[in-house]
Amino acid sequence: MTTRFPDPASRSAQLFERAKRVFPGGSTRGQTYMRPYIIYAREAKGCRITDVDGVERIDFINNFTTQLHGHGHPAIVAALQAQAANGTGFNFATESEIMLAELIQARATSFEHLRFCNTGTEAIMHAIKAARALTGRTKIVKCEGVYHGAYDYAEVSLDPDPQAWGVDEPRSVGFAKTAPEGMVDDVVLVPFNDVAMTRRVLDKHRGEFAAFVLDAAPSRCGGSRVTDEYARLVRELTRRDGTLLILDEVVTFRLDAGGAQTLYGLDPDITTLGKVIGGGLPIGALAGRADVMTAFDQTRGKASVPQSGTFTANPLTMAAGIASMTLFQPDLVARLNKLGEEARSTVRRAFKAAGLRAHVDGQGSLVVITIAAEPPRTYRDVYRANAAGGGQAMEELHRRLLNHGVLWSTTGLGCLSSPMDQPEIAALGDAVHASLKEMKADGLERLFP
Ligand SMILES: Cc1ncc(COP(=O)(O)O)c(C=O)c1O
Repeated sequence: MTTRFPDPASRSAQLFERAKRVFPGGSTRGQTYMRPYIIYAREAKGCRITDVDGVERIDFINNFTTQLHGHGHPAIVAALQAQAANGTGFNFATESEIMLAELIQARATSFEHLRFCNTGTEAIMHAIKAARALTGRTKIVKCEGVYHGAYDYAEVSLDPDPQAWGVDEPRSVGFAKTAPEGMVDDVVLVPFNDVAMTRRVLDKHRGEFAAFVLDAAPSRCGGSRVTDEYARLVRELTRRDGTLLILDEVVTFRLDAGGAQTLYGLDPDITTLGKVIGGGLPIGALAGRADVMTAFDQTRGKASVPQSGTFTANPLTMAAGIASMTLFQPDLVARLNKLGEEARSTVRRAFKAAGLRAHVDGQGSLVVITIAAEPPRTYRDVYRANAAGGGQAMEELHRRLLNHGVLWSTTGLGCLSSPMDQPEIAALGDAVHASLKEMKADGLERLFP
């Protein structure tokens, strides 16, 4: 048994060697990849996850925010067991899809009609397709550097470097080598929360955009929330131009019982959902005004956006989703959001005690650490901070936290789950403090601003 990471003799290190024979680079999922080897999970219960070497850690990633109720919540397990015994997939619809849709529909007035799919990526893809079908336009606009899943268009300018930033307004850059040039030109960028630039870009491209895709609290911009002024501007100009406002709530839905839109008073035309609404199983969904969602209506022949999917609305996901949404009530959200505030304060205190600078932000039960001198507001602020040493410092912090019983993400995002309470927040503070102390002792203070 090992308690330190990395350890070449560990079972995880051995599994990684085996994985290299079946997966390119030993990995089949970008998010779990880490150097020098991937850690393999054995089991997880509540807010704790144990790896194949028997090391237990508090899980502050929760499968990138899906496990709002932690691992193995009894209500979700029972729902899954009951459904598994009754069948896991049919070419009939099930009542469970109506039940889950009804539970979601009741949460926000903009959710007049819904459509399920299997991932947040698909939800964004179908939302953009619907916007194109309804407007007859091809271009979309999104905030530079913000993640909306792996659909080609949504990935444009996900990680542009300064050479690609452009001298005036942001320039579109393909994310991967696969990005066709014509497609890149169909995506226009604005900086998150930059009212003047966004107004300029939307005025310049008036009448050209099918959709504006917005995340109300993008972790890749440091975790701050959309300002009221920015949200108002985006809504006003999209309405003026007949552009659909797609609110990506794949992550932010957990911020309130009705998502960021009920918390911040946003009024989208289409919302994309995922993660928490599936109770830990693969899911995506679109919810929007009934007239917008007619794009998916096939009762009068071929729909404008034909959308299907072998596993869409599969009964296992629906069962887990119903259990998850039933537990996801205002009192639970309020408790988790308060705990999130405490987590942010605790992590800030740990940095202060170590005499190291970082910006700790995030909304509700999301916590975003950016190792930066100034509070980051946009993708470029985060990029500059990371390039100045903050990115490497965060990777080091992530690795050391692993050895102090905490699983966090390498990018700085962490999140809470309902089995957590004060002891887990205190343990997080202790782990950050101990990790920073170690980093200083190893001369890594130079990575900090
Ligand atoms: C804001 C946001 N939108 C969309 C997605 C894509 O969701 P999925 O990974 O389920 O495809 C993610 C995934 O992390 C996300 O964070």
